[in-house]
Amino acid sequence: MESNSYSAAVEEIKSRCNIVDLISPLVPLKRAGSNYKGCCPFHKEKTPSFVVSESRQTYHCFGCGEHGDAFKFIEKYYNKTFPEAVEQLAKQYGVEIDTVYARQGKKKEPYYEANRLAARFFYSGICAKGNRGFEYMRGRGIEPATIKKFGIGYADAGWDSLSGYLKKQGIDEGMLKEISLARTSQKSGKLYDFFRDRVIFPIINTQGRVIGFGGRILGDGEPKYLNSLESLIFQKGQNLFGLNLTRSEIQKEGFAIMVEGYMDVVGLYQAGVKNVAASLGTALTEQQARLLARYTQKAVLCYDADNAGRKAALRGIDVLRNAGLEVRVMHVEDGKDPDEYEKKHGRAEFIEMMNRVSKSDIDYKVSVIAEGCDMQSTDGRLRFFRRAAEDLSKLSPVESELYIKKVAADYGFSEGALRNQVQGDASAKASQPQPRPRDSGEGEEEAPPGTVYSDADVMLEKTVIRLLMLNGSYFPRAAAKRELFVTGEGLEIFSAMDDVYREDADFELTDLKDRLGENALNYLQQILDEIRIGEDDKKAFDDCMERLEQAKRAKRITEIGDILSMADPDTDPVYIKQLTEELVTLNQMNKR
Ligand code: UTP
Ligand code: MN
Repeated sequence: MESNSYSAAVEEIKSRCNIVDLISPLVPLKRAGSNYKGCCPFHKEKTPSFVVSESRQTYHCFGCGEHGDAFKFIEKYYNKTFPEAVEQLAKQYGVEIDTVYARQGKKKEPYYEANRLAARFFYSGICAKGNRGFEYMRGRGIEPATIKKFGIGYADAGWDSLSGYLKKQGIDEGMLKEISLARTSQKSGKLYDFFRDRVIFPIINTQGRVIGFGGRILGDGEPKYLNSLESLIFQKGQNLFGLNLTRSEIQKEGFAIMVEGYMDVVGLYQAGVKNVAASLGTALTEQQARLLARYTQKAVLCYDADNAGRKAALRGIDVLRNAGLEVRVMHVEDGKDPDEYEKKHGRAEFIEMMNRVSKSDIDYKVSVIAEGCDMQSTDGRLRFFRRAAEDLSKLSPVESELYIKKVAADYGFSEGALRNQVQGDASAKASQPQPRPRDSGEGEEEAPPGTVYSDADVMLEKTVIRLLMLNGSYFPRAAAKRELFVTGEGLEIFSAMDDVYREDADFELTDLKDRLGENALNYLQQILDEIRIGEDDKKAFDDCMERLEQAKRAKRITEIGDILSMADPDTDPVYIKQLTEELVTLNQMNKR
């Protein structure tokens, strides 16, 4: 389920835990005015100077100065790290970190359930003797075993076969409409099925939930495919068709073959090419690329050999590259799409062809440029030369050098001339104001849900995480300052990094990603996209630490406020004076 453990769990614990109830079994407390008082567990004393404030949910010892909230208390009392304290309190207050996920998912549960029932209904439809959908799929060369594997079904031609069935199962009409299994007729006001007389491909996410459907018309007609509309549980651009079945093959093979359509996935899979997934007609989105990047670092785009397919490939290259994947591109030789190819050839031939015709993303881009220019004419060649150079100028120096050699050789240009042109483009680009690294997708820039943090805190956190990824030697210094990590996602990333560094000195991004939940992954991606560290990471790190000191002082200022509110007539006036002076100093330092 997409959700992150930490922030949700921490917030939930805070809402359930009363610090007075937490501490009083461990430290006998007596009411003292609006606060509670006892003997400090952190130093030896006979007269109580340990005060717990219920209204502020903090404690303070006027003897030894220990101070903090519930988490801090557990850390100190049991000598635990913060994550361990979270874990213990989660247990104690019945906030299992996983049940926090589950609860967020719960609202969606009935929708998934309705879809699951629908998928079963469609599947039993196609299994009926002499079913039209079954015959259609057989006619397209699809085996019964494949139908079963993908859970392919058939929606019959009746107006309310599915909705009638689901209503009998206790699913209400509103829900059927929300997930576009049914709609209401404008004329008669009656409910009717969304999918009728179509072969149905269930779209299943990597958690095994049926989130939507695609329905293909039998034969010709419009629309050829009808897809579930977006809903609470279905966002087209965030899922890849087939990945539920193919992700382990993708991991095993070390790359994914990305295709356009349902039938391409099903056909290739049946032919034994199982490391495949489809973006479902749309151009690949950033989210899909990131989803894929959880399983592999390499992709082969295998889109239809038409204009739309070429265009989609060019966009796909950029999106996948941005997500850190190495991309190759191909179009099948014999047939318009992989499905057609695979019907005539088997796995071995497909692989052989792929190895032969697929091109690196840059080669592909350059070849598309060449196709658009008349390479026989001087004008055409010049145009190609300029455009290719422009693309090469966007590459890293090493890559661009390699491709300058290659393109010059492939297309018969002088290497030196091409290099000059590329370098000219690169410096022209550098002198322009740089655009933001990437156009951001839908609302991803938002701070993680939950608590509101200041932008500065979040930037600081992000920068430190980025620095830690670059240089493990900073880790101990940052680890000593967990207050750096202000968002739940940041904390999650930090503790995952802790694990990674503990196991191995070499830091691998994939190791880290494997340990993160969806929200933390998104956050990590934001960090990778947004935070650029210049040459001097040492200076950047020192800056961060200085800003942290600032933040710490700000925190101490609040803390002193807390303490002063807990003081009573017995409190040592010298101490009060000290605190007040400290407050003045801190305020001054932070004004600078
Ligand atoms: P294609 O038109 O290439 O379909 O669309 P296809 O996969 O080759 O289909 P078959 O082989 O004729 O059955 C590619 C993908 O674009 C989406 C579908 O996801 C389809 O698989 N699409 C296409 C739609 O969503 N709606 C349409 O009307 C057409
Ligand atoms: Mn096709």
